Amino acid sequence: MARLSAETMAQARELMSLYPDSRSALVPICHLAQAEEGWLSPEAMEEIAELMGLAPAEVLGTASFYEMLRTEPVGRYMVSVCTNIACLLNGAYELVEHAEERLGISVGATTPDSMFSLEEAECIADCDRAPCLQVNHRFFGSVSDERFDNLVEDLASGRLEHDVPPHGVLCRVRRQGGLAVPAEQVRAERAEADRAREERAAAAQAEKS
Ligand code: FES
Repeated sequence: MARLSAETMAQARELMSLYPDSRSALVPICHLAQAEEGWLSPEAMEEIAELMGLAPAEVLGTASFYEMLRTEPVGRYMVSVCTNIACLLNGAYELVEHAEERLGISVGATTPDSMFSLEEAECIADCDRAPCLQVNHRFFGSVSDERFDNLVEDLASGRLEHDVPPHGVLCRVRRQGGLAVPAEQVRAERAEADRAREERAAAAQAEKS
């Protein structure tokens, strides 16, 4: 795999500078890296580990915990059909069967052209539009078989490119300009907060004794 892009690395370094403990930036950095290929490859995780001074296993341990981070390749569009109770009662399993037939894959698989992956999802909090699904975390409700077919066609043809970016891309517009507050000021305020915390702890200790 290609190394993470220079832009991603620069954004990752900027993210690390925003936290008192740079390790706190791990999840957002994983999202940044995932936006490059749609998933977190072992090479990408190794590069993140190297950047953050972590073991690759620590990155994998975190990434594999979160549903939105994928450590296996997925299609350009991850179709997540909710099969929780409200959707189930409104035909979710029939919709899953239809999706399998339309895409020619089973749940858990990816189409040979790497365009679509299909999975079942727990409640996605869109119950009033059951049965519903997400594509790359974008919502589609009241999905009939026909609506599903239209959705697949629109995605495959690129007609929904603007509304549904490729898997891994969480947002199209990023904050520009980095840290608005001078780093020196941040350091001074953090030091002051640390001092105040220590004073409170010392006062509490003195009260006890
Ligand atoms: S049960 Fe499907 S969105 Fe809540």
